[in-house]
Amino acid sequence: MRVDVVSLFPEFVAQCAAFGVVGRAQERGLLSLHGWNPRDYAPGNYRRVDDRPFGGGPGMVMLIDPLHDAIEAARAADPREAKVVYLTPQGARLTQAKVRELAAHPRLILLCGRYEGVDERLIEAEVDEELSIGDYVLSGGELAAAVVVDAVARLQEGALNDAESAAQDSFEHGLLDCPHYTRPVEHPLGHVPEVLLSGNHAEIARWRRMESLGRTWLRRPDLLDEQALGKADRALLDAFRARYLQGLDEPDGDA
Ligand code: ADE
Repeated sequence: MRVDVVSLFPEFVAQCAAFGVVGRAQERGLLSLHGWNPRDYAPGNYRRVDDRPFGGGPGMVMLIDPLHDAIEAARAADPREAKVVYLTPQGARLTQAKVRELAAHPRLILLCGRYEGVDERLIEAEVDEELSIGDYVLSGGELAAAVVVDAVARLQEGALNDAESAAQDSFEHGLLDCPHYTRPVEHPLGHVPEVLLSGNHAEIARWRRMESLGRTWLRRPDLLDEQALGKADRALLDAFRARYLQGLDEPDGDA
């Protein structure tokens, strides 16, 4: 997959993508990342990329032409058709389903705004989709672009090792992850749930599923469609609730 980032600070996104799973995906040739700076396409000595908004008001608006030329240069760098995504708090909220959809495209061009935003005519002419990473305002789209790059990179075939894929699966199924523990078994902060030490793989899987369901119910009930749960999951969630409501939901309970 190829991702082009159009930004006044393309190195910022490249730095975010240099480590861990995403860095490895680049080394393995699963993801290639390219930066395009609209300032390089701005004319004159000042290389101006923004101007004051018509109608007055505070802030500056990014000019059409340097962005247009940077996007066209990015498009021309590879014959495959690119989907152009503008990162903005006005966009639709990024979800794992959207990440899966984006990760299946061979090419993305991520457009990052700064200042008050981008001239609307550029968005109408060039942008296929507007995405937000949450209901808060960042000082530019670069961090959001880095989030998109990270999330799509890890879904490329071969980017994750087996253990990482298994961890990914748990969220892919629409539930929060269960808690995890490692050595030592005994620690002043508490001890590891007995069931995880039992060696009984069926019981461990059951416990993890119950914790996933229970956490999702407690923390993100909006993600949980109880009607759509199978009978076994409903029974696990009922068991979790019963334990929780009895106040037995201590991390050392082996339920
Ligand atoms: N640019 C500024 N804030 C943003 C956000 N929340 N999501 C995406 N892009 C942004």
